[in-house]
Amino acid sequence: MMKRIAVLPGDGIGQEVTKSAVHVLKAVGREFGHDFHFSYAPVGGAAIDKENDPLPEATLRLCRSSDAILFGSVGGPKWDGVPREQRPEKGLLTLRKTLGLYANLRPVKVFSGLAGQSSLKPEVVSGVDFVIVRELTGGLYFGKPSERRRNGNDEEVVDTLHYHRKEIERILEKAFETAAQRKGKVTSVDKANVLESSRMWREVAEETAKRHPEVTLEHMLVDRAAMELIHNPKSFDVIVTENMFGDILSDEASMLTGSLGLLPSASLSENGPGLFEPVHGSAPEIAGQNVANPMASILSAAMMLRYSFGFEKEAQAVEKAITDVIDSGHRTSDLAVRGGRTLGTKQMTEAITSVLEEDTTTAGIMSAYA
Ligand code: IPM
Ligand code: MN
Repeated sequence: MMKRIAVLPGDGIGQEVTKSAVHVLKAVGREFGHDFHFSYAPVGGAAIDKENDPLPEATLRLCRSSDAILFGSVGGPKWDGVPREQRPEKGLLTLRKTLGLYANLRPVKVFSGLAGQSSLKPEVVSGVDFVIVRELTGGLYFGKPSERRRNGNDEEVVDTLHYHRKEIERILEKAFETAAQRKGKVTSVDKANVLESSRMWREVAEETAKRHPEVTLEHMLVDRAAMELIHNPKSFDVIVTENMFGDILSDEASMLTGSLGLLPSASLSENGPGLFEPVHGSAPEIAGQNVANPMASILSAAMMLRYSFGFEKEAQAVEKAITDVIDSGHRTSDLAVRGGRTLGTKQMTEAITSVLEEDTTTAGIMSAYA
């Protein structure tokens, strides 16, 4: 069956790394006999330049009519001066909100070949394997009012942390379901000693836990969670938290793996297409130089295969190709060992693609003889 994939490269290295992911998806299509159809549309700064709008109507329409969305990254100094409603980031935020992409899954897994790469000690990070389940369409990012006010000589500003109970319920449900498929532990992260929204979050977490007796629940304040992430990261299985807390903790967590260039994500809705994007941003300082690490984007494509299409063995084949390439010592510059040789974005993509092709061909031969 044909799968329609909307490709929104966006800005900076988003352009390069989505190319890599498409390259690998095409190889998956050939090797496993799937018909992937790619359509491209501008978003973020690229769309501002073309159409004066970070999320043009046609881009949104394309996303709605697709089976999944491959997203690069948005933003850059070029658009720093534009008004808030017109910023590149607004394109991504509106897309998340409009498509109801409430559940953002951010797996944090340390590749055994890279444990020495983290700024933390290898024994602290090796074996780390957890998922951050970040609420993505509510909380501080979207609450109203969010504005500046002038009152005579005074100037004030407000942002609002707002949630409907239903929004908290569905993200906690997603976290418990995720944990049930993994090691069976949910850490619900909040600031219940200060925030009313967190107290409701805790209540809902308790209620959800009652429906999932196979999963254990622990509550953790967000400041403590920030500490535990570098103190004892192996203690986590599934971390579930509010939008802004999740944004901050996931960048922190990426450092366990050695590079932000390794972290993929999936943003899922209740029934529409999912969106798959690296956790990293547009990195304008290295854009266009063929040095960006394409792995986060390629791993995001693997999540697309798994979550949007139910192609589990294809997803695993992509993940295995990446693991093998790392194990054989190939590195992009973000993972460079001093004095070691590094591959550019394209060369790394080629290396991953050839391993994938070799592995699937060998598997085919093996099964023919089985
Ligand atoms: C992320 C990014 C976005 C966010 C920005 C680009 C709006 O940092 O996906 O983590 O804050 O959600
Ligand atoms: Mn972020």
